[in-house]
Amino acid sequence: MAGPIRHPLDPLSAEEVQQAVQLLRARGKVTPTTRFVSVSLKEPRKERVHAFTGQEAIPREAFAVLFDNATSTCYEAVISLAASQVLSWKQIPDVQPTMTIDEQIECEQAVLASDEFKAALKRHYGIDDTRLVMVDIWSAGNYGSAEDRTRRLARPLCFLRRDPTDNGYARPIEGLRPVVDLNTMQVIRVEEYGRWPLPPGECNYAADRVTNLRRDIKPLEIAQPAGPTFEVDGHQVRWQNWSFVVGFNAREGLTLHHLRYRDEGRNRPILYRASLTEMVVPYGDPGPTQRRKNAFDVGEYGMGMCANSLELGCDCLGLIRYFDANLVTSRGEPLVIKNAICMHEEDYGILWKHTDRRLNSPEVRRSRRLVISSISTVENYEYGFFWYLYQDGSVQFEVKLTGVLSLGASQPDERPKYGALVAPQVYAPNHQHFFNVRLDFDLDGVANSVQQVDVIPDELGEANPFENAFQARATTIKTEKQARAHLNLQTARSWKIVNPAILNAVGEPVGYRLVPGDDSFPMGSPNAWWRKRAGFVNYHVWVTPHADDEKYGAGDFPNQSAGGDGLMRWTARDRPIEATDVVLWYTMGHTHIPRPEDYPVMPTAYVGFLLKPHGFFNLNPANDVPPSPKKVAGKSACCH
Ligand code: CO
Repeated sequence: MAGPIRHPLDPLSAEEVQQAVQLLRARGKVTPTTRFVSVSLKEPRKERVHAFTGQEAIPREAFAVLFDNATSTCYEAVISLAASQVLSWKQIPDVQPTMTIDEQIECEQAVLASDEFKAALKRHYGIDDTRLVMVDIWSAGNYGSAEDRTRRLARPLCFLRRDPTDNGYARPIEGLRPVVDLNTMQVIRVEEYGRWPLPPGECNYAADRVTNLRRDIKPLEIAQPAGPTFEVDGHQVRWQNWSFVVGFNAREGLTLHHLRYRDEGRNRPILYRASLTEMVVPYGDPGPTQRRKNAFDVGEYGMGMCANSLELGCDCLGLIRYFDANLVTSRGEPLVIKNAICMHEEDYGILWKHTDRRLNSPEVRRSRRLVISSISTVENYEYGFFWYLYQDGSVQFEVKLTGVLSLGASQPDERPKYGALVAPQVYAPNHQHFFNVRLDFDLDGVANSVQQVDVIPDELGEANPFENAFQARATTIKTEKQARAHLNLQTARSWKIVNPAILNAVGEPVGYRLVPGDDSFPMGSPNAWWRKRAGFVNYHVWVTPHADDEKYGAGDFPNQSAGGDGLMRWTARDRPIEATDVVLWYTMGHTHIPRPEDYPVMPTAYVGFLLKPHGFFNLNPANDVPPSPKKVAGKSACCH
């Protein structure tokens, strides 16, 4: 294919996605009942990417997941776009791939058209009209029944708006749980659990429905009169010393690739691939209408499929560079999410400062960070995924949790035990959010090791006469089982990824440290149905040897799975992980005990971690950042 040579990890263009679809059609792989779950870049092998010079194109390949509703069968295909060939076509037995966006919409229509649902609605609420009913698809999970194993199911939650633009989540239809077969797109039954009145109040967040919007806010604008500092070529980005490739796919959403830092003239590799691999939101109420609630938003819903288009209202300030997401509808039509990824620079306060008292000369530098972000709406909830690159070599990942709580209705006289009332009769059950992130490090080369670092006070005795001594003890992790670990506040535990073959100026292996942020332990028992499928919550940290087919913490097909796949299964082999191509997996949890202030829409909560150079550089890499121009107090910082 002619044209400029693209980075081998650039995501598929809209044309390449369609080329893959057409090839599958032409080879007879697509029937009228086939759904395309995803078509994404089949990433070339790592050696080829490392050998890429920019002079010679690496042949492009696509990876497609398809599902035939008529036979309830999943297929995986690899397509050579360069050779116009289907390279492999594999049937995957007994799995349910990610639910597609089309199924979300069709499932809602199926429930609204169901006579059984309409009759139940009439019995419970005296309503004939379903036009104000909202039906959120919700995954079915797997609770050991035959239908969980054999049918493609959804268990939607329903709500009733007061009018067409009202916040319907304020009025949950608690007692009714339709069960939908997504293969036939039929309601197979409506489960009834009792009668709950609709909560009496209404509560909205839309600007045109909130009365008395505050009027005392003056404009705050970010000006970059000389343009942004970054340069973009396809999906390759350069920003100060950083370079990387922005990736995106239907399942994981935003991914970062081939992250390097220019240091004394060399482009030093740091991270080969960084991605959110899975997440789960288990709820803590044992009641019959609430206990099946858990959501694997990556493997069940597709974080990329659920991404927002930031075209209409950007969530960032400053000079923005957007990237589109080129996806596919379940029927193989182009699905372009305009401006799915936002990239911009942000001022981040003080980078470093010191005042030499004797010289009376303060030296201060402003910190600037590059933000690469994407936001997904998974029915009621929003997740923002933010990667930050800093001038001191740090990399940060932050998830922003916002949107509307998953709500239920409570009886007028009821005080819920497993959650909170956020408004009269509006009930928000306790829950947790666990995110699993895969970090494929290539620090100055692929052969890396991981150390667990515990800070430990010295024993008391003659060598510690003031009883003040403590040291950081690094244990090099040799195997996968040894690597399974939890955070430990008592030893300020962290993890260091090192390249044992490359020494820094003080003779230590070059390294980066994983600095955990807020985290949690799972509250559900190890035998809880949801936890069988979410083995990645069993430990905060995992290390595996790199394998191209080990990408998702809960396995390739967590939707309705029986469990046991993913990190638990792979690491059971206890493979050696010393001085090899290692992948570090980090699980972070946020325990959400809801409060009235989370209603009607939730102020953003944050969870994340930091990757900090630790002996990777010979000195503060931000020592060369120049001072910013001085400003006069009270005057706008802008140039006019
Ligand atoms: Co929450």
